[in-house]
Amino acid sequence: MNAQIINGIEIARLVRAEWKLRADRLIQLGVPPGLAVIIIGDNPASSIYVRNKVKACTEIGIYSEVHSFPEDVEQSEVLDCIQELNESSRVHGILVQLPLPAHFENNRIITSIAIEKDVDGFHFFNVGALVTGNAVFLPCTPYGVMTMLMRHHIPIEGQHVVVVGRSNIVGKPMAFMLLEQGATVTICTSKTRDLAQFTKNADILVVATGKARMITAEMVKPGAVVIDVGINRLTNGKLCGDVDYEAVKTIAGYITPVPGGVGPMTITMLLCNTILAAERAQAGIRMVATN
Ligand code: GUN
Repeated sequence: MNAQIINGIEIARLVRAEWKLRADRLIQLGVPPGLAVIIIGDNPASSIYVRNKVKACTEIGIYSEVHSFPEDVEQSEVLDCIQELNESSRVHGILVQLPLPAHFENNRIITSIAIEKDVDGFHFFNVGALVTGNAVFLPCTPYGVMTMLMRHHIPIEGQHVVVVGRSNIVGKPMAFMLLEQGATVTICTSKTRDLAQFTKNADILVVATGKARMITAEMVKPGAVVIDVGINRLTNGKLCGDVDYEAVKTIAGYITPVPGGVGPMTITMLLCNTILAAERAQAGIRMVATN
């Protein structure tokens, strides 16, 4: 039996069409949603991501501005830029493209973004809010995964979910979002001893390790939902995920392809978070720590 394919391109299209109506309303009110993207250095992958983000903003009616800095820029210059953006009424969301150059203090940068403009949801306040069930912004990639599960009416409560990967961007927020929805969550890493013993017990398996095709068919329970967050480039130039797609799709109940799975959802959820931030600003809702 072949798995049902979870088509990220199609779901992204539907979600964007719905949120475009919300963006249109803000535009009519004279408050077009605005996103500022900061990019430092010339990492080719980051440059492509940023270009795609700007294109997606334009398509949905979000104003965007890109602030590019050379690799050797002083951290203080970037902090000054973030401070200006925090105060700008034109900008509702701020995203600093990661990874940062080695001389940067990631935590200083992330925590300098205003909580109510942190559309990545990476600020420590927002991480704490998420973990305690008070999320201000859901981090874009796990938010995209949750949306895919919801659109397919895949039950989460009571299910055993195994998340492979413990990054701050995907693995950790993913685990807490699923926990919040009542799943029993196991967090593994690519180095977990006897990883298959865990993955074979997963009703839902989310993989975000960055290791090409590391999840093989023997590691998957028949009928499981398999979500592949990985995007790896093979030596032949082709893209593949962290899951051996061709083999696993004969075992799984549902599976996301790469490309065309989680990838298109990440940018979509960034657009949603930016529109949400603009709606809050327009309504005068402030998201600030009270002490
Ligand atoms: N680099 C890779 N993924 C992300 C992301 O979701 N947000 C940011 N800011 N940088 C990234």
